[in-house]
Amino acid sequence: MRIFSGIRPTGGLHIGNYLGAIKQWIAMQESNECVFCIVDLHAITTPYDPKELQKNILETTAVYLAAGINPDKSVIFVQSAVKEHAELAWLLETITPMGELGRMTQYKEKSKQHKDYINAGLFAYPVLMAADILLYKTQAVPVGKDQEQHVELARTIAKKFNQKFGQVFPEPESILPKVGAKIMSLTDPKKKMSKSDDPKSCISLFDSPEDIQKKIMSAETDSGKEVIYNVTKKPGISNLLTIYSLLTGRTTQDIEKEFKGKGYGDFKKALAKVVIDYLEPFRRKQKELQTRDVYVKDILDKGASRAKTIAETTMQEVRQKMGLA
Ligand code: TYM
Repeated sequence: MRIFSGIRPTGGLHIGNYLGAIKQWIAMQESNECVFCIVDLHAITTPYDPKELQKNILETTAVYLAAGINPDKSVIFVQSAVKEHAELAWLLETITPMGELGRMTQYKEKSKQHKDYINAGLFAYPVLMAADILLYKTQAVPVGKDQEQHVELARTIAKKFNQKFGQVFPEPESILPKVGAKIMSLTDPKKKMSKSDDPKSCISLFDSPEDIQKKIMSAETDSGKEVIYNVTKKPGISNLLTIYSLLTGRTTQDIEKEFKGKGYGDFKKALAKVVIDYLEPFRRKQKELQTRDVYVKDILDKGASRAKTIAETTMQEVRQKMGLA
């Protein structure tokens, strides 16, 4: 199967990004043809600092590599290095109804969050995402819950294109992890963990052990003191149990048993250790790659040229079907 997914290089990637998306990618690259993108053209639709963007791109690449994406097997590249993404996005915009875009939850949330930055790019964001996916004739898109609606729209656009101009695109499906598709904020477990929120609400993949310890110990918990998984009654503890379970491979029931009769404090201390140990290779790899810019850039260049070969072939077909060639 052809797999495609991407992450915005906005800095501070967190364990939600890892557990919702990247962790799935690692398993998939063994038996599929995978394309993993750093979507810089998406990152500029919300306020950003141009001086930070290249640094964030390299940092996101470091996350991909530290997590275990193998650049010899999978294609890793930066979206803006393959111009066909922007071209296909424009062409697909001409068949995407405005109404569909106005309904997108992320658009509604982001335009509320950045009231003075509601640009046309933010509105058309899901079409660029559809272009990312369709350019590679992708069959499956491993993402967290919040991106499911966008992948659904990519299906709708693919169907519409095929009906109007002739069969070109497979209809892509999203793949969500069974557990961890929506990791919640540490400070408000009713909201999803998000890069743009208060830093205390999320654990960044490069946080220092001291910061991880502090954030977990002060994470919002619920009334009572038993460590029990119950999303409605105990959203805070349930979120922490989910993280514990995903990072150790143990079931939540098993973890509940271990902490029976102990309080939230003991559980949080143990969780902090699990997270600190798990993220150690990320901190190490980031340090190592900071001094190996040339190596990282070489991976991205090779990735872009592999991506371009596929993208150019699709675009020739698209241009012909649309009467542009
Ligand atoms: P982005 O950069 O916001 O997030 C990257 C990935 O992380 C997942 N994610 C989460 N999963 C679980 N719990 C959370 N709290 C959490 N927060 C984020 C997201 O679902 C996503 O899988 N539009 C996309 C990037 C994109 C893309 C694409 C993805 C652009 N083109 C094509 C797939 C295919 C985005 O903003 O993700």
